[in-house]
Amino acid sequence: MTLAMSQIALRQLVAQHGQQHVYTFYEQLTPMQQQQLDGQVASVDWALVSSLVETVVKHPQTLALPRDVQPAPFFPHQPKASHDAQLYQQAKLRGEDLLIKGQVAAFVVAGGQGSRLGWDGPKGTFPATPIKQKPLFQCFAEYLLALQTKYGPAIPFYIMTSPANHKATTDFFAHHRNFGLKPDQLMFFSQDMLPAVGLDGKALLESSHSLALSPNGHGGSLLALKKSGALTDMARRGIEHISYFQVDNPIVRCVDPLFIGLHDLQGSQMSSKMLPKAFGKEKLGNFCIVNGKMTIIEYSDLPDQLAEERNRDGSLRFLAGSVALHAIRRDFIESLNAHGFALPYHRADKKVPCIDLATGQAIKPEKPNGVKMETFVFDALPLADKAIVYEADRMDEFAPIKQPDGIDSIVSSKVITTQRNTQWLEAAGIRVPQKPDGTPDCVIEIAPSFALNAQDVAAKRGKVPSIAPGASVYLE
Ligand code: UTP
Repeated sequence: MTLAMSQIALRQLVAQHGQQHVYTFYEQLTPMQQQQLDGQVASVDWALVSSLVETVVKHPQTLALPRDVQPAPFFPHQPKASHDAQLYQQAKLRGEDLLIKGQVAAFVVAGGQGSRLGWDGPKGTFPATPIKQKPLFQCFAEYLLALQTKYGPAIPFYIMTSPANHKATTDFFAHHRNFGLKPDQLMFFSQDMLPAVGLDGKALLESSHSLALSPNGHGGSLLALKKSGALTDMARRGIEHISYFQVDNPIVRCVDPLFIGLHDLQGSQMSSKMLPKAFGKEKLGNFCIVNGKMTIIEYSDLPDQLAEERNRDGSLRFLAGSVALHAIRRDFIESLNAHGFALPYHRADKKVPCIDLATGQAIKPEKPNGVKMETFVFDALPLADKAIVYEADRMDEFAPIKQPDGIDSIVSSKVITTQRNTQWLEAAGIRVPQKPDGTPDCVIEIAPSFALNAQDVAAKRGKVPSIAPGASVYLE
C-alpha cells in the first residue's frame, strides 16, 4: 500500500474489511489531521487485520499441548567434562575471531511500548545505572565501545524502533553524539504497527484522526530487518551473525564472544541463552523439544505438573527458562524472508485508551476493552534446522527493568548490578563491605571501559580504591 493512494481508494479498502468506521470524524478534521489518518490507514495491512480478527480475536484457538514435549538439552554454564572445557575455550576463541574479522552485529529490539514502566519516552532512554544514572542506550554503546577497544573493528549496531518512538530514539542518540559510536556503525529502523481492535474486531481509534496503533511484537524484527534493508547492509559489511537482545537490561552482554563462538562452531541457525528457572512456574518461557524441534512454551501454557516435574537429583526437569537473548545467523533470517515465513500471532487483551465513535469522547477503560496482536521472535526457533541453548549466569548478565518496583524493576536491577559488581571485585580478592545480612554495604557501578567481566577486574585490581561502608564507587 502506498501513501499515494487516493482517499476514495482508502475508503474502499477499509470498507472491504469492514473497518469504514475509522473515517467517522474525517469531515471534521483539518487537512493535516486528514493526512495523518490517511497515512496511517495506508500503512496498515488490512487483509492481515481481517484474518487476525477471525483467527485471533473472534475464534481464538486454545493451544493444545503437543503430545511429545521434552526438555531441551543445553550447554551448561560451567563445563562438566574436560572436552566441554576445551569446546568452550575454542568457542571463546572463535567468537573473538569473529569480532576481529568484523562478522558480528549487535541488534537491540527497542520498538516496545514499555507500558509497565510508565516512562515518558523510549525505554532505551530510561536512566538505569545505580550511580551515574546512565540511560540503557548508553550502557549498550559503552559496552560495544569497550569490545571494539579489545577486538578492533567497529561493531555495527542495529536498533529497531517503532514509528511511535523512532524520532525520539534517533534524536536521543544525536543529542548525546551517539555516546561515542560512529554514525556509520549505527542503523535505526522501524518495525510495523497494527491497529488494536475492540473485542468485536473493529479497529479502535485513539483520537478522531489517529488509529490506536501498536507495534507488531518483537517477532516483527525478522521482517523489519529485511524490509528496512538492514540485512542487505549487514551482507555488505560481511556480517554473519546477529547478537539479539532486549532494550531493558543494563548489564546485558551485547555481544558475548563465547556464546557467539559456540553458536558458530555448532552450526546453529538460531541460538539462545537460558537461565535455570528458580522454581517450576517462574514466569519464563520454557525451552522444549516438540516434534524434534526447539520450541519455547510459555510459562502460562506449560501444565503445572510438567513445570514442577523433577529429575532424580531433585532438579527441575524443565529447567531452561528463556531470557530473550539470541545469536541468529544472518542467512537464516534471509532464508525465512525468501520463503515467506509467518510467525503465529499472539493475542493480548489490554486496556486501550480510545474514543467513543458515537460521541467522540475519550474512553479510559478500567478493564481490557481491546486486543493487541503480536508475534514473538522465539517462534522462529522451530523453523531452524539447528538451534542450541547455552546456560547463562543469572547474576552476571540479567537485571531487567520492566516496572517501577518489585520484581524486574529499576529497584531490583540496581541491586543486582551492585551484587554482580561485588562478585567481580571479590573474585579479584578485593574486599567489599557487607551489611549484617551479607548484602553489599555500598553501591558499585563499573563502566564497561573499566571491565566487561570478572577477569578484566582481576587484571585491574590495583586500580580499585578501598571501599568504605556505605560508599558509592564508580569505576571507569
Ligand atoms: P516487553 O515484552 O517487555 O514489552 O518487550 P514492552 O512493550 O517493552 O513493555 P510492556 O509490556 O508494554 O511493559 C521485550 C522487548 O521486546 C521489544 C521491547 O522494546 C523490549 O526490548 N519489543 C516488544 C519490540 O521491539 N517490539 C514490540 O512490538 C514489542
